Amino acid sequence: MALNLARRIIGAAGHGGPQRFYHRSAPVLSGGLSQHQNTPDNTEETPFDFTVENYQKVDKILGRYPANYKQSAIIPLLDMAQRQNGGWLPLAAMNKVAEIVEQAPMRVYEVATFYTMFNRVKVGKYFIQLCGTTPCMACGAEEIRTTIEEHLNIKDGETTADGLFTLKEVECLGACSNAPMVQMNDDFYENLTPESTRQLLDACAAGNKPPMNKWGSLPMNGQMSCEGPIGNKFALLDGPLEGGKSDKRFRTDGALDGQQIEPSSVKEHMLY
Ligand code: FES
Repeated sequence: MALNLARRIIGAAGHGGPQRFYHRSAPVLSGGLSQHQNTPDNTEETPFDFTVENYQKVDKILGRYPANYKQSAIIPLLDMAQRQNGGWLPLAAMNKVAEIVEQAPMRVYEVATFYTMFNRVKVGKYFIQLCGTTPCMACGAEEIRTTIEEHLNIKDGETTADGLFTLKEVECLGACSNAPMVQMNDDFYENLTPESTRQLLDACAAGNKPPMNKWGSLPMNGQMSCEGPIGNKFALLDGPLEGGKSDKRFRTDGALDGQQIEPSSVKEHMLY
């Protein structure tokens, strides 16, 4: 309550104009409630079980922890259940995880309702998390949000009628240097403009989601990683200043060739 009030005051201060709310994070995707609400596809009786392949991963995950601390596996198991279920976590899946880790279901509900990475209602095939925190807001996040809302004809917290996209505004996703940005499912799309945002959405709708490369998801303006635009590489110098000047050059593109981690291998390692 106090935080919301502070945000409203900050948003309205000193401009003499209409009050602006810079932070618009929608309630958690559960209808704004922490309680479970039955829907036709989400009741205690709705069948859920891990696939044979995922049961093998269950064993690997449980093997990371002492046998008497199975509850340590709650988060990775919930994550796997959510991935198997198309990006959201039905009640039956939480109950299945509770059964596996031999805990009361409430212990699992407590985790699933606390962490915003878990969606307890259905989301679209492309779950768009739009960062609305200060650096992104200052660089145009509100314009990106408006672009997405108008292009997809949905509002924050809603899913398109075809079930393809869900939009949710979230707090900082840790890519502030390439603001404004969105996370779509597991991947970041950065340095967005209204035009590149529309291109991204259209590509996803056509089934051509831009692939990740060696740098992860490339910033949408073509720059490499989080380095500054070409010709303006004044940050992240390669060595200390000498006499107020540096004879060091910015790390060249490709300087890390052979040392990089293939993003898809990270997912494999994480048992995604
Ligand atoms: S403020 Fe948007 S990623 Fe940090």
